[in-house]
Amino acid sequence: MINEKIRKAFNEQINHELFSAYLYYSMAAYLHSIGLDGMAQWMHVQVLEEMLHAQKFFDHIVERDGKVELEAIEKPQLEWISALEVFQAAYKHEQFISGRINDLMKLSREENDYASQGMLQWFVDEQVEEESSTSKIARQLELIGETGNALLMLDKELGARAYKPPQATGE
Ligand code: FEO
Repeated sequence: MINEKIRKAFNEQINHELFSAYLYYSMAAYLHSIGLDGMAQWMHVQVLEEMLHAQKFFDHIVERDGKVELEAIEKPQLEWISALEVFQAAYKHEQFISGRINDLMKLSREENDYASQGMLQWFVDEQVEEESSTSKIARQLELIGETGNALLMLDKELGARAYKPPQATGE
């Protein structure tokens, strides 16, 4: 059985992961609106990954006889000034999520909850990837600027991103 402190904290994390999906959906909508459909596609894949993250916390609570309690999801930002600002904001958001995961790991250690620590290690590794991918795209956008062929080429490259279901990633 999952302990109450961990259950509550994991419930909150489900909300953070669902908000992440909502935020990236909003970023996709903005990127479509400025004609960068490839970058929008990249964000659509990100939405699916965030839904998977929420599902992992959901499943963990249920498997350990806890009850999931969903809260309202905050309205996301709707407009940005450029693709660069979008990816800088995505990077900043991922840094925030990494902090949350680290806090959960700390709590699981304090509570001697070894099952949670095993599950959270997956997220610790995942956040390295999440921060790296968003910061890399932001840096590329800084280099190439807001217009021109290079922007369109990067848009095309990012549009090739496809969602890998958990089985295909070894999870
Ligand atoms: Fe669920 Fe992008 O971290």
